[in-house]
Amino acid sequence: MTLPEGQPESLGNGLAPGEVHWDPAVPEQSPLTPVFDEVTRRRTAEIIARYPQSRSALLPLLHLVQSVEGYVSQDGIRYCAEVLELSTAEVSAVATFYTMYKRTPCGEHLVSVCTNTLCAALGGDEVYARLSQRLGSPGKPLGHEETAGEPGTPGSVTLEHAECLAACDFAPVLQVNYEYFDNQTAESATALVDALRRGERPMPTRGAPLTDLRTVELELAGIFPDLAAAVTGNSMAPETLRGAQMATQHGWTAPAMPDTPPALPNVPEKK
Ligand code: FES
Repeated sequence: MTLPEGQPESLGNGLAPGEVHWDPAVPEQSPLTPVFDEVTRRRTAEIIARYPQSRSALLPLLHLVQSVEGYVSQDGIRYCAEVLELSTAEVSAVATFYTMYKRTPCGEHLVSVCTNTLCAALGGDEVYARLSQRLGSPGKPLGHEETAGEPGTPGSVTLEHAECLAACDFAPVLQVNYEYFDNQTAESATALVDALRRGERPMPTRGAPLTDLRTVELELAGIFPDLAAAVTGNSMAPETLRGAQMATQHGWTAPAMPDTPPALPNVPEKK
């Protein structure tokens, strides 16, 4: 590895400081891993068939393997590579780029606390700190992407910091399995994770009723075992509608579209 000039030296293990090791020792030509059963293979074919080029199915397929194992394992990497005729290095590069693909087994629920600027200033840091203590053990708060309880078992909860969850008007917010819980306090967040650990599924502030992380991963792959339930729920909130209401009150409208749309800039053709 060649580090750019002015960067700290490599640690001597081939990694730059702070760089996380991802096991690359996956054979390139292995038989299809047996972890994924017939149902998963059928779903795989269904997903791939949606795209003109099979490699475009990689992101949903990574969600699919995550729905089976609760994370993207080395088997999951190998499976995606083989069904899409990619190298495991290509699949690993994608899986390690996006934070929604997890490298260690997750709990039944994933709790993501926004600690970005606005939420942090309005209490998100306190929410995270309190949950970290609540879910950890005495003197050992739970860390980022660590799980309270045995991963995958009922009541287990994985905690993570999240960047802006695109709900700043409800700060501080957190998500459980990517469903929103708005306007949180340390107390309300603690009560929420306590309920999750007891096996309850409190109703999110907006969006569909709570299920579990693996079911949501399946939905993110584009497979909906219960489509009606997955789209049930209120997606609006007064804060979100306020701008539209003010515009109506004041008679504000957007400028009309021109009769002739402006010419698009020339973009070099991708090779
Ligand atoms: S800063 Fe938390 S949702 Fe935007």
